[in-house]
Amino acid sequence: MSTVLPTSALTSSVRPSAVVVLAAGEGTRMKSTTPKVLHDVAGRSLVGHVLAAVDQLEPHHVVVVVGHGRDLVAAHVHGSHPHAVTVVQEQQNGTGHAVRVALDGISAAGIDLPEGPVVVLAGDTPLLTGDTLSSLLEIHHGEQAVATVLTATLADPTGYGRIVRDSDTGHVARIVEQKDASEAERSIREINSGVFAFELSALRSGLSRLTTDNAQGEEYLTDVLGHLVTDGETVAAYIAPDPEEILGVNDRVQLAHAGGLLRDRINVGWMRAGVTIVDPATTWIDSTVTLDRDVRIERNTALSGSTTIASGAVIGPDTTLVDSDVATGAHVLKSHVTESKIGPDATVGPFTFMRPGTELAAHAKVGAYVETKNAFIGEGSKVPHLSYVGDATIGAGSNIGAATVTVNYDGVNKHKTVVGDHVRIGSDTMLVAPVTIGDGAYTAAGSVVTDDVPPGAMAVGRARQRNIDGWVERKRPDTASAKAAKAAESLDATPADDVDTDS
Ligand code: UD1
Ligand code: CA
Repeated sequence: MSTVLPTSALTSSVRPSAVVVLAAGEGTRMKSTTPKVLHDVAGRSLVGHVLAAVDQLEPHHVVVVVGHGRDLVAAHVHGSHPHAVTVVQEQQNGTGHAVRVALDGISAAGIDLPEGPVVVLAGDTPLLTGDTLSSLLEIHHGEQAVATVLTATLADPTGYGRIVRDSDTGHVARIVEQKDASEAERSIREINSGVFAFELSALRSGLSRLTTDNAQGEEYLTDVLGHLVTDGETVAAYIAPDPEEILGVNDRVQLAHAGGLLRDRINVGWMRAGVTIVDPATTWIDSTVTLDRDVRIERNTALSGSTTIASGAVIGPDTTLVDSDVATGAHVLKSHVTESKIGPDATVGPFTFMRPGTELAAHAKVGAYVETKNAFIGEGSKVPHLSYVGDATIGAGSNIGAATVTVNYDGVNKHKTVVGDHVRIGSDTMLVAPVTIGDGAYTAAGSVVTDDVPPGAMAVGRARQRNIDGWVERKRPDTASAKAAKAAESLDATPADDVDTDS
């Protein structure tokens, strides 16, 4: 949400030299063929959220440590961050090992890290904000620390590394992992978020001393802090103002939980920015969506991808918009819209299925049970009911009668329908493409239009009706229909002034 980003630029002293994102783990508990950090929430992958927060720090270099699903993760990272360096950690020998592999990978890539702290974090914390990372760096710089850890105080710290503080000074002494912790240490509620700022030389020095002499037989990044404290260096901590931010995602329950928290955060951000959200509990807005002031969002609405909505538009209820743009004053009611553009004061729905490439000009209307695809619908033109409009261009001021179909597919190829300005397409017209209907032309209801219609002409493309008198009484004798017909005949036979003409 660009509206809630702080505008203050980072001072060069806290601009990170590099950010190292750890994303080599398997994420076993997701029980997925998709690598954990590629699971989506609020319109971004887990690692995409982390990278978006990292972007706010304007780091000189971004390094992502990949392992499980390395090709997929690397391709995904490069999709949004082409300049990021991905480094492969063949075996997941611990977070400390992962950071060493990252630093070696940077050197191997011929990068000389410039001045500035090195930030380390995990790729599975989608709630972490750039603001919190900035604050961590400010504290790190202000305290002149060689290492600063982001901590949080949790009601239930189970599973996390605990922050052991010096009982006299209150300074961080070391971090102990759950599995290595004593009973007393396990009662500590301040935990390691897994987010750190380091001075590069201190980080290297600490990493060089890591061992696997612990309960998990891994090189713990957390042990770097203990070594630095022993060296007499300053190690600081920043307690996250909102402990929610440090939540990591390890399974699909946590994925949904994080999604709910992100939804609430995004909704609150937009409401504070001047958007009316009638029912935040059923409104899902991706972090990639842009809304203007005075947009109104009715209940049960999902806005995703690159969707943008202009001021005065009303969206929902029961509407999904994917990668679509809605102009000012437009209404979209109970509809599903993908990769489309809805013009100013246009109306859509209820029950419209708008597929990619649909564009509605100003004041256009697409109504109930209409499907569109790759179609331009001109200014003020209407497709009000039960129609399919695909591969078509409709001019201005035209009306497309109910149940009209652009017959665009011959079984092999798609063909185009062109409808001019101020055309009246009669109900149930089949426009067999390729076909062009000239400006101001009409088509008769029920026509199958296979030939171009010149401007101003009336196209009639249907068999003339004939009535076979007495057919029912002959072919379906003694049925209810036959009896009704007979009764109607005897009514016809009565003098006209006896007939109730109102019925
Ligand atoms: C780690 C911390 C713990 C902290 C917790 C916060 C250590 C030793 N422990 O524990 O203090 O409370 O995070 O969530 O650092 N990874 C790699 N390569 C590896 C190992 C891990 O890339 O060899 C990545 C994982 O993919 C993950 C992150 O590092 O993104 C954290 O690893 P994880 O195994 O989840 O660490 P925890 O045991 O949870
Ligand atoms: Ca973890």
